[in-house]
Amino acid sequence: KTPDGWLPRDPRLIRLTGVHPFNVEAPLSALYDEGFLTSPELFYVRNHGHVPQCADADIPDWEFSVGGMVEHPFTLTLRELMTEFEQKTYPITLVCAGNRRKEQNVVRKTKGFSWGAAGLSTALFTGVIMGDILRRAKPKRGAKYVCMEGADKLPNGFYGTSVKLNWALDPNRGMMLAHGMNGEMLRPDHGKPLRAVIPGQIGGRSVKWLKKLIITAEPSDNWYHIYDNRVLPTMVSPEESANHPKWWMDERYAIYDLSPNSATVYPAHDERLCLSASPDRYRVKGYAYSGGGRRITRCEVTLDKGKTWRLANIEYAEDRYRDAGLRQLCGGTLDMEWRETSFCWSFWSIDIPVSELADANDIFIRSMDESMNMQPRDMYWSVLGMMNNPWFRVTIHKEG
Ligand code: MTE
Repeated sequence: KTPDGWLPRDPRLIRLTGVHPFNVEAPLSALYDEGFLTSPELFYVRNHGHVPQCADADIPDWEFSVGGMVEHPFTLTLRELMTEFEQKTYPITLVCAGNRRKEQNVVRKTKGFSWGAAGLSTALFTGVIMGDILRRAKPKRGAKYVCMEGADKLPNGFYGTSVKLNWALDPNRGMMLAHGMNGEMLRPDHGKPLRAVIPGQIGGRSVKWLKKLIITAEPSDNWYHIYDNRVLPTMVSPEESANHPKWWMDERYAIYDLSPNSATVYPAHDERLCLSASPDRYRVKGYAYSGGGRRITRCEVTLDKGKTWRLANIEYAEDRYRDAGLRQLCGGTLDMEWRETSFCWSFWSIDIPVSELADANDIFIRSMDESMNMQPRDMYWSVLGMMNNPWFRVTIHKEG
């Protein structure tokens, strides 16, 4: 064990805050080179405080409760969750709302620490569909939200947030209570023994070390639901937001679904392109994702700051569901029914003649999803520096 937490952790992980709490991302190329699935050691971590000691407890006896506006409140152990409910496994990309915040902090300091473009990771999560649990409790008339609470005691109470009840009851949204990750028990950093996994939404909704589900008529009043994971209007400064709670109380500014986003991994920011070397084409490549289960439908690259665009090829993680290796990883229980929905990142690539790269100064990538939502050209700055998704720029450094 490390003083602030838990082993094993990959030494390549980049610390974004001090020693505590533990907040890390992988080097972007290491993350991408692993392929669609991220190993638990390299998976990004966003912890608001210490990993609770109970993550080391006698796991099958871990208890969590379902209460609030329900006909039949109950408490369930992890053992019961694993034996009394159908178990599902899905590949899901989790993305921190602060992914790419570093670019915002360069323009104007936000209240958040500087994530690069690797604040996301993908795993096969195994657990129970949240709707199956909620139906057993029978939500009452007028119930609208599912509040979740974790076991980590923080300066402002336990970490908690909420999502809409009708999303949680919709099997196509795939919200789950997960105990497994890539065929193993969850790691302590990622919520062992039980966490919520909310596909297609910002990672902040996927509560780790889950202790409570509370059904309510109003969104969560947890401090972390109100003062975190929001995009406030751009003119609200850090001072204004600190002095006027009204900005935080407006649920319209809470973030749920992810927006289309993408990044170039190769060439990397510090890579020098050898322009005289063969082959005479360079493969520019990276990742893209969107939210709410919406598939990325195009990725476009420009070498002239947006005057002209080239269409990149897209490879979908979902198409790998058939992959025997993946199925083995989760004991043969991988579900295929979501092939039409995308809860994973995808990889794009395009071969560009080296001579054309030699004539350009930079490469921009932008992506679009199936609802024609597109990454904007310009940054939308906000006080927490979240959901940053303008066209992603890499400068071309030449040599030879
Ligand atoms: N759940 C609890 N209990 N405590 C936390 O600090 N952080 C949230 C979410 N769930 C958090 C939590 C945030 S902001 C993110 S982005 C994800 O967990 C990160 O999940 P990961 O660390 O497994 O990647």
